[in-house]
Amino acid sequence: MIKLFEPHVGIEEIKSVENVLKSKFWASGAGAGKVLEFEKKFKKYVKSNTCIAVNSGTAALNLAFSLFDIKNKEVILPSLSFISTAHCIVENGGIPIFVDIEPDTLCIDPEKIKQAISKDTTAILPVHFGGMPCNLNEIRKIAKSHNLHIVEDAAHAVGTEFNGKKIGSHGTAVCFSFHPVKNLAMPTGGLISINHKNHEKFKQLLFSRRWCGITNRRETDYDVKELGWNYYMNEFSAALGLLQLKKVDKLNKIRRKIAKKFCNEINIKSKMQFNENCSYHLYWILVKNRQKFREKLHKNGIETGTHYKPIHLMKMYKHNISLPITESIGRQIVTIPIHPNLKKSEIEKIIKFVNNYA
Ligand SMILES: Cc1ncc(COP(=O)(O)O)c(C=O)c1O
Repeated sequence: MIKLFEPHVGIEEIKSVENVLKSKFWASGAGAGKVLEFEKKFKKYVKSNTCIAVNSGTAALNLAFSLFDIKNKEVILPSLSFISTAHCIVENGGIPIFVDIEPDTLCIDPEKIKQAISKDTTAILPVHFGGMPCNLNEIRKIAKSHNLHIVEDAAHAVGTEFNGKKIGSHGTAVCFSFHPVKNLAMPTGGLISINHKNHEKFKQLLFSRRWCGITNRRETDYDVKELGWNYYMNEFSAALGLLQLKKVDKLNKIRRKIAKKFCNEINIKSKMQFNENCSYHLYWILVKNRQKFREKLHKNGIETGTHYKPIHLMKMYKHNISLPITESIGRQIVTIPIHPNLKKSEIEKIIKFVNNYA
C-alpha cells in the first residue's frame, strides 16, 4: 500500500532516539536539553521574536489563545480544518465565527473576513491549508484597521514562505504541529512562534502554562500563580525535531517537485495549484463520486484521505450558517500521497489511477 503520509526516517533519527533513551533524561517541564536547543534552532529558522515548544499543535493553539482575553469575544476562522482549530477558541471562552474559503487555495477568504467583523471580533485565525500560504497581506491590513490579533494555524506550513519570509515570522502567534504525518515529524509535538513587542512577557507566561503553572523555580522550590497544563515537549521529540529541521527544506523541495508533476499530469480541473512557496503537506483534488473513487484507489494499493469534514457541520459546532464553497469542497475533497518517500514508479502509479478513476 502506498501510504498517504509517511515520516522520513534516517539512520541519524534512530541513533538520536537511542541516545536520548540511554541518557535517561526523557522529559523536562523546565524545557532544558534538546527542547531548548530545538526552540533556538526553530526561532532561527523562522526568524521570529521567540519560540515555545509544546507537545502538540492542539496545545500550541490552546496556549496561544490564552495570551489574549477572548472570553465572549469572536474569532474569525475557516471551517475546512482539523477540529483543534475551533476547539482552541472555545477552550479559551471565545466564540468561533466560521467564514468561507477561496476555492483555489482553500484558505480563508479575506473578503469574507471583512463581512464577518463585528464589535465583538478580537482575532483572526487563518489556516495555511495544505501548506498554501494565506493572503497575509490582506489579513494583516484587516487586522490592523480593526485592532485584531492574528493567530495563525501553521500545522501544515513548516517551510512555507510568504513575501520571502518563512511562515512563523508574520502573525502575533503562529502555531505549528509536528505530528508524525507533518512535514517536520515527531512522535508528538508543536510550537508557538511569537512576533510581538511583549514577546518576553508572553514567553514567561507560556513557559509556566505549558508546565502546570509552575513559576519561580529555585532548586526544589517553586510557586504557582495560575492554571497551567502538562503541555511540554519531551526530549525524544525534540531530538528527532532537530534532525528533521535540518532536512525539512530539502524534503519540501521534493514535495514541490511531486506537486508540480501532479499539477501538470493529473487531468482534473479542480486540484491544488502549484505555488513554489508551498510546503505541500498534503495534495488535494476534487472528485464527484468520492467514495467510489477512494475504494478504487484503495483496491489498487493507494491510500487516500479526506481533509476535512467542515467543522461547522460537526454536532458541537452546528449553527444555522451556510458556507457554500466549504460545503461543496467538503463533499468532494480527496487527499493523495505526496510525501518525500514516494518512488518515481509510485508517483506514476498515483497519476495513472487518479486519471483512470476520477
Ligand atoms: C490544521 C491543523 N491544525 C491543528 C492540528 C493539531 O495538531 P496536533 O495533532 O499536533 O495536535 C492539526 C493536526 O492534525 C491540523 O492539521
